[in-house]
Amino acid sequence: MSTNTGLEGVVIGQTELSQINGELGELIYVGYDIDDLARNTTFEEVAFLLWNLRLPNQAELDGLKQELDAERGLSDEVVALLRSFPKDADAMAALRTAVSALALTDPEANDNSTEANRRQAIRLTAKMPTIIAAFDRIRKGREPVDPQTGVSTAANFLYMLNGEEAEELRARTLDAALVLHAEHGMNASTFAARVTAATLSDIYSAVVSAIGTLKGAAHGGANTRVMKMLDAIESSGTDPATWVQEALERKERVMGFGHRVYKATDPRATVLRELADQIMEGGQETRWLDLSDRVREAMSVEMEKSGKKIYPNVDFFSASVYTTLGIDTDLFTPIFAMSRVTGWTAHLFEQYANNRLIRPKADYVGPRGLRVAPIAER
Ligand code: ACO
Repeated sequence: MSTNTGLEGVVIGQTELSQINGELGELIYVGYDIDDLARNTTFEEVAFLLWNLRLPNQAELDGLKQELDAERGLSDEVVALLRSFPKDADAMAALRTAVSALALTDPEANDNSTEANRRQAIRLTAKMPTIIAAFDRIRKGREPVDPQTGVSTAANFLYMLNGEEAEELRARTLDAALVLHAEHGMNASTFAARVTAATLSDIYSAVVSAIGTLKGAAHGGANTRVMKMLDAIESSGTDPATWVQEALERKERVMGFGHRVYKATDPRATVLRELADQIMEGGQETRWLDLSDRVREAMSVEMEKSGKKIYPNVDFFSASVYTTLGIDTDLFTPIFAMSRVTGWTAHLFEQYANNRLIRPKADYVGPRGLRVAPIAER
């Protein structure tokens, strides 16, 4: 039996949602280039695109925004749950637990009909930013801030986090980052969500599976580790080029580089770098972005020497962009989740519409023919 560890190159189904050309470094959502979407649409338009396979007109966009606004608030039970968490709780574990709890108070949680699933996708997309912001405020000894209406998801999130309205440029930067993170083919967390849904389990369970999968360092958890790495380089006082060289000699992975599919620069990293330039023009501090550029140059030199096709991925610049926006490092992966939930749920719609249980096999390489000895003799 041939095995494929990591399922590399295995096609598990069809999707109309996104395509990655790893060799060219291209990404499209439903036919639109990511670069075009990041520059010319908002996160809400992209959510509509993924859920409906077309961009909304103005009335449809206004309708979706109203639906999101109506669902942003959290029940008293969920806020009480957030208050019960240890102050040093892992942010992704907190998000995973709170999202799981949302299902308990959603009377439609076990209804897998198309319309109920659509409403659940809107609820999850609306409530996840509120959960993350409330978690952050509570752990800092502050009161959660109620969501605003009539503003974007990005602006609302920054408002709920900081308790004051976000500057336009900051909100627009986060909005574009949410567009860039919304969907990405059959990545690990989307696959996990689809595996869960394929058992005919519910949307909340599938999204909880996805959040747990995104948490890992090889997937969404890399953005927090990028920031820790930049911090370590800065506090070591070592030249970034030397630091990178030494890390590679120790066979360590440089966080924010490499990708299973991209063998060219991740196009999302290119857009994020440009966004970073815009924030800098807006007078924000530049040290993390400058350091990121130096690490990127050092990696480029090292990879040229080794002949490996390892380039920056989306996490590399998102770390310095979010830090420049004043967001705590451990919230980076939850922010990834609050965007990617649109892609996860869009994939779940596809899964439910054309479902087959996902059940691969493993090649058994363990012992055979053993006999159970009485416990006293083992
Ligand atoms: N730094 C240094 N070397 C690397 C890196 C890296 N970041 N990534 C891959 N390599 C090297 C490996 O050491 C390996 O070298 P070898 O052939 O000499 O042993 C080779 O490149 C291939 O690596 P694999 O692990 O086989 O690649 P895989 O496709 O399984 O892994 C992954 C992809 C997990 C993303 C990897 O590149 C990595 O660990 N990157 C760092 C973490 C990261 O940034 N993750 C975010 C991914 S994007 C996202 O989820 C949004």
